[in-house]
Amino acid sequence: MSVTHDKVEKNIGLMAVLIAIVVSVGGIVEIVPLMYSASTTEPAEGLQPYSALALEGRDIYIREGCYGCHSQMIRTLRYETERYGPYSTAGESVWDHPFQWGSKRTGPDLARVGGRYSDEWHEVHLLDPRTLVPESNMPAYPWLAERLIKADKTASKLKAMKTLGVPYSEADIAGAQAAVEGKTEMQALIAYLQSLGRTQGQGNR
Ligand code: HEC
Repeated sequence: MSVTHDKVEKNIGLMAVLIAIVVSVGGIVEIVPLMYSASTTEPAEGLQPYSALALEGRDIYIREGCYGCHSQMIRTLRYETERYGPYSTAGESVWDHPFQWGSKRTGPDLARVGGRYSDEWHEVHLLDPRTLVPESNMPAYPWLAERLIKADKTASKLKAMKTLGVPYSEADIAGAQAAVEGKTEMQALIAYLQSLGRTQGQGNR
C-alpha cells in the first residue's frame, strides 16, 4: 500500500473530503448530460402549452394537494402501460413548472387521464368521489364549484411561464383574463385534468 493511501485511511477528515469529491464527480457525470440532451430538454412533438383555464386548474391541483395521492408519471413497465397507457417521456413535461410527476399513489396515476372521462364525470367525482366509486377514499372538494378564478392574476401567470420558456404568444397573454373570467375553480381543474396526456408526442391514446 502506498504511503499516500495510508495517509487517507488514517485521516478521517481527508477521507471525507475525498469521498465527497468522488461522489460529486459521479453525480455530475450522470446529471449534466441530461441538461443538454434533446430527449430531456426539447418538447415532445405536438406538445401544447396549457390553456389559460387549464393553467389555473394546475394551480388548484397544487393548492389542493392532489399530488399527495396522484402521480403523473407512467413508468416503462408492462403493468403500468397496460393500465394507464403509453409511458411518460421527459419531453412531455418540459413546460411543466413545477412538474407534477410525484411518486405517491394512493389513487391512480393521472398522466393520461385527459379524455378518459367526461367533464360531468369529473364534476360529480370531485363533488363527492363516493357517488361514483363507493369504496373511494379520495376527499370531496365541494368548494371548487362555488369559488371563481381570480381572473386578474391569470395573465401574469402566463407571463411567468413565458419567462421560463413556455411559448405563450402575446395574444395568449392578452386573452388570458377573458378566457377565465367567471369560470369556477371546478371548471379550471377539470380543464387541466382533461388536458393531461393529450398533448403528448406518442399520440396513441
Ligand atoms: C387521499 C388521497 C387522494 C387525494 C388527496 C386525491 N385523490 Fe383522486 N383519487 C384517489 C383514489 C383512491 C382514487 C380511486 C377511486 C376513485 O376514483 O375515487 C382517485 C381517483 C381520481 C381520479 C380518477 C382517476 C381514474 O383514472 O379513474 C381523478 C381524475 C382524481 N382522483 C383526481 C383528483 C384530484 C384533481 C384531486 C385534488 C383536487 C385528487 N384526486 C385528490 C385518492 C385521492
